Amino acid sequence: MTDPATDTRATPLAELHMHIEGALEPELIFELAQRNRIDLPYADLDDLRSRYEFTDLQSFLDLYFANMTVLRTAQDFADLARSYLARAAVAGVRHAEIFFNPQAHTARGVPLREVLEGLGDALAGSEAEHGVSTGLIAGILRDRPVPEADALLTDLVGSGAPLLGIGLDSAEVGYPPSLFVDVFGRARAAGLHVVAHAGEEGPPDYIRQALDLLGVERIDHGIRCVEDDDLVDRLVRDRVPLTLCPLSNVRLRVVDRLADHPIRRMLARGLHVTVNSDDPAYFGGYVDDNLARLRADVGLTDAERERLARNSIEASFASPARKAELLGG
Ligand code: ADE
Ligand code: ZN
Repeated sequence: MTDPATDTRATPLAELHMHIEGALEPELIFELAQRNRIDLPYADLDDLRSRYEFTDLQSFLDLYFANMTVLRTAQDFADLARSYLARAAVAGVRHAEIFFNPQAHTARGVPLREVLEGLGDALAGSEAEHGVSTGLIAGILRDRPVPEADALLTDLVGSGAPLLGIGLDSAEVGYPPSLFVDVFGRARAAGLHVVAHAGEEGPPDYIRQALDLLGVERIDHGIRCVEDDDLVDRLVRDRVPLTLCPLSNVRLRVVDRLADHPIRRMLARGLHVTVNSDDPAYFGGYVDDNLARLRADVGLTDAERERLARNSIEASFASPARKAELLGG
């Protein structure tokens, strides 16, 4: 398979679906705990690593939120983002749209400005340091109260921070997109891009709601669309990007084995799918690891990898000039 990091003919990748808190590697968790004098409930690295066995989305989210308590200062957020960007560059990523979960930090007393300052610092140097252009997307926690999301949007817009858009994530079932119509309407009116996780554990109808009620431009995951032929027809016709995360789907038991992943069938059907790492520190790897495993276990071809790369750039919110540069046009 072509290696996007070394093969100059291969189209580089845009990563459109990763949570920066999900790039918190075990070593960095211990380092930040020491720096911030936080007692971790783990004896050592092996003890922590032994907990990376998940039965569903919620079992992962419990560990994800517990571990991010080591993030306290702007420096912590900057260190985390720099470590992701350096690793993503090695994976062949040249453009990254990065989710962060402000409520997960503000709810435990970390000021929004610390988060924005740290991530902003790391992202500002990314193009010069790593050749990776970037954007930040604030992920609303859908299982927290809607008025909190509303207040967050007000704070984000008021902060003046360079924000690409907003997303919707965390526990999906029971928290339909319909709850967030007003917040997403306000975000669109403020000129922000809008995306939402839908159809990961939730039903295909949540994908429809995200499109019809929230006006999203991409669906994060969306894998369960394959259960609904009419929905698939619509997604193909309207070229709605789906940001798939294959290794995440295996680790969170959305599919039993990678060999069962429908990504090749989805590509063949004409769906605008992309490959992403979601939470690379938790799910067994970065975007290059996802592509390598797809090649080994599903038989992904070079032509399909190229299609995925082009899809990722076309589906990104990069400027037309940056897209043309990345597409080699
Ligand atoms: N937050 C981080 N990873 C997530 C996922 N896979 N689904 C929903 N929320 C998330
Ligand atoms: Zn996600």
